[in-house]
Amino acid sequence: MRVLMFGTGVIGTVYGCALAKAGVDVTHYVRPGKNQPLEEGVSVRLLDGRLKRPQETSVLYKLKVVDSLSPLDDYEFFVVSVRHYQLESVLPVLKDNIGKADVLFFNSNWAGFEAIDRILPRAKYLWGFPVAGGGYTANGELNAALLEEVRLGELDGRTTPRLELLKEIFEQASLKVDIQKNIQHWLWVHFAINSGVIGAAFEAGGATQLLNSVPRLLDAILAGREALEVCKARGVDVQAFDDAKAFYQPSWLGATAVWLMMKLNKPARKIMETHTAEDELREIYRDVLKTGDALGLAMPHYRALKEYVESSSIKAQGRTKPNAHPTP
Ligand SMILES: NC(=O)c1ccc[n+]([C@@H]2O[C@H](COP(=O)([O-])OP(=O)(O)OC[C@H]3O[C@@H](n4cnc5c(N)ncnc54)[C@H](OP(=O)(O)O)[C@@H]3O)[C@@H](O)[C@H]2O)c1
Repeated sequence: MRVLMFGTGVIGTVYGCALAKAGVDVTHYVRPGKNQPLEEGVSVRLLDGRLKRPQETSVLYKLKVVDSLSPLDDYEFFVVSVRHYQLESVLPVLKDNIGKADVLFFNSNWAGFEAIDRILPRAKYLWGFPVAGGGYTANGELNAALLEEVRLGELDGRTTPRLELLKEIFEQASLKVDIQKNIQHWLWVHFAINSGVIGAAFEAGGATQLLNSVPRLLDAILAGREALEVCKARGVDVQAFDDAKAFYQPSWLGATAVWLMMKLNKPARKIMETHTAEDELREIYRDVLKTGDALGLAMPHYRALKEYVESSSIKAQGRTKPNAHPTP
């Protein structure tokens, strides 16, 4: 089984490393000329949530890297995990080199699939979402966490042979596969929830400050709830998704539940604390606001976080919470 990962970013490397360790033949594709610094391998410090007692391990991932592709390459799957705003840049490369492979987009999505549909038939691609994350440190180490679940789904909700095959590949690496009947709506709900949490993390001055503060988490719940209204206005049955449930409890209860869950679930906490790719985080926040504006939604709590998203750093120290917020 040959799998090609696009890039050596956080998600591509975490899953590439996990799959390669489980015996899958993984190759990473990087843009021309970008393979040299990777020849020595990538040092990966992983808090492994697949274990009963999650443990941090360090490995040198000796990855296989190519910087060119051909339609005659013998890959079963291309796995594309790029920042959501980079997706269109990948499409011409896919179009020219897809050959017999199918593409798993393992990515955030808010824009829908029109741009992909212009380039690839749906018979050539499906979607999924990683439950992992992290970031590269200044010395080039990947500091990351991996939870045991991944999400996958065909756009038409069917269970196809390629979906089954992907499930087997992930299971080989001790990952549990949650197949979603409506992966598009799942992706949008997840994006919306993230966008509210991101806004509150910028307000707090970082994920750690956010996760240590029930009042700040309350802002995340209120903003996330308004972001979920954007999904509703797009036709999503939001409350059918378990992940959205915390947002529809009384707000203080939801905030306290998230605070507690993040105290207990160390890998989930680490995913948030090490995800400091501010460019993408800002874009996620902005995308939802832009759609909310286009749909004429007020979103007062969500909008109140904009000044922090646009002016502060997620790596900075926490700020004093202003009193100017709308009341819950
Ligand atoms: N990081 C997290 O904690 C996390 C958690 C959950 C979900 N996600 C989602 O997972 C996806 C990937 O995120 P990430 O954090 O792994 O991003 P990332 O670290 O920025 O990695 C993206 C990778 O894609 C490569 N790439 C982009 N455009 C390319 C192109 N046209 N051709 C070849 N390679 C290309 C980049 O290469 P260059 O370096 O050359 O640009 C980079 O190696 C995103 O949709 C994100 O929302 C991330």
